[in-house]
Amino acid sequence: MVKDKVCIVTGAARGIGAAIAKKLAKNGAHVAFSYVSDSSAERAEALQKELEGFGIKAKAYKSNAADFAQCETFVNDVVNEFGKLDVCVNNAGISIDNLLLRMTPEQWDQVMNVNLKSVYNMTKQVIKPMMKTRSGSVVNMSSIIGIRGNAGQASYAASKAGIIGFTKSIALELGSRNIRCNAIAPGFIETDMTHYLKEGKAADNFLKDIPMGRFGTADEVANLAMFLSSDLSSYITGEVISICGGLSI
Ligand code: NAI
Repeated sequence: MVKDKVCIVTGAARGIGAAIAKKLAKNGAHVAFSYVSDSSAERAEALQKELEGFGIKAKAYKSNAADFAQCETFVNDVVNEFGKLDVCVNNAGISIDNLLLRMTPEQWDQVMNVNLKSVYNMTKQVIKPMMKTRSGSVVNMSSIIGIRGNAGQASYAASKAGIIGFTKSIALELGSRNIRCNAIAPGFIETDMTHYLKEGKAADNFLKDIPMGRFGTADEVANLAMFLSSDLSSYITGEVISICGGLSI
């Protein structure tokens, strides 16, 4: 389904990004992925080795998705190294939860830069090689919070809602070039980002709103990312697909 496609995944040293990288590699795609901090370097190296174990080409790049120049270098390096580019999964993201009364301008900017500007930074670069081959798929990691909002997460919600507007606009701009752009809106997925939600009363409150009665797994999100990366979704663009155990109903 994605065999021999060259795929970029941002922020893939752990969590959903790592699961997506593994899923793509397991299914025969070549995977270039980014990580941002020195503390992730060891994990990134281990992931690269694990991906290579699937018999494909894989490489880890240290690149800050929030930095325009670093994204330009990252994408150019990938195209030089892998020869082409078919898929970009914009996964990198952070949350800095705070009520608006306490939210500082620095916290706001940080979340917007990492979550939203990163999607602009990367997409602007990846469409160049994709336009040359008149084919490509961009998959952006939004969130159910970008659709319904959440108290204490105004910046996160705004950044994820921004991704949805961006996704639809790019689908309109580049559909005629056979470049698709879709967004994934996960609900509560078990990763480092949400581990604190799993404890105590908070977990019960979240779980009671989820018809399927459980958090999702990174692997389940990876299945959807692979579908949107693959030719199985060749006539799907501009969509926001929720994966949330029914939370959005
Ligand atoms: P995570 O915190 O485990 O992973 C995020 C990854 O992004 C980390 O590896 C981190 O190093 C990387 N990253 C952070 N800033 C970066 C930057 N500037 N440049 C490059 N990489 C950077 O979180 P998780 O849960 O795996 O989240 C992945 C994506 O899914 C995020 O965009 C998140 O907002 C989104 N999401 C997660 C949900 C969840 O319940 N876990 C729900 C909805 C959306």
